[in-house]
Amino acid sequence: MGTKHPEFTNAVIFDHPLIQHKLTWMRDKTTSYRPFRALISQIAGLMVFEVTRSFPTKEVTVQTPVEQALGKRLAGRVTVVPVLRAGLGMAEGILEVMPEARVGHLGMARDEETLEPAVYLQKLPMDLNAGPVILVDPMLATGGSASEAATILKDAGVDDLRMICLVASPEGLSRMAKDHPELTVYSASVDRQLDERGYICPGLGDAGDRMYGTV
Ligand code: PRP
Ligand code: URA
Repeated sequence: MGTKHPEFTNAVIFDHPLIQHKLTWMRDKTTSYRPFRALISQIAGLMVFEVTRSFPTKEVTVQTPVEQALGKRLAGRVTVVPVLRAGLGMAEGILEVMPEARVGHLGMARDEETLEPAVYLQKLPMDLNAGPVILVDPMLATGGSASEAATILKDAGVDDLRMICLVASPEGLSRMAKDHPELTVYSASVDRQLDERGYICPGLGDAGDRMYGTV
């Protein structure tokens, strides 16, 4: 479903028609916050199938109404970490398909002048090394927020980390490759470039504002 990007080898891109169809609706500036929220959640739910493909499993035996059956369950405790605000919409879609996941929150706001991220909330499970962790934030622009988030998670003990975004910039992917070379970034698109305000072009605008109607 996802393919490795030829230039950014740390990125897996989803060219699935359903994901591209939904992403195009999200880019459309006439799409209002209600469908925008639904779409972001749906895309994350679709992407998580591929992202979890390599998750470790353990064999278990269950009793069916007929006989014993050998099955598999996820081996570790999965944690989803959305970067507020816009990551929340993606986390919702992931929890629809993986309701057993725990959720850690990272509140980060990008300074509009310096483009540096400021952390305003950090609420994470203690034993983050108990299983895989999925960092979610729809927009990878300069990569400042994602890089800082990955550093926080690694410092907190995460040893199996991957990231899901919707739209990545070449600049953001380069930054992640430099700062966190072991981390795979799953994205629905790699867009052309950043503009002078640090917005992704063509992008979809300010994801948090579009999601919550605060434009
Ligand atoms: C957006 C987005 C990322 C960040 C990306 O959040 O959701 O967290 O910007 O930019 P960067 O790669 O240059 O760091 P924002 O700071 O606008 O907060 P919001 O979701 O609350 O609007
Ligand atoms: N954050 C957003 O929400 N959109 C961008 O284009 C860049 C950063």
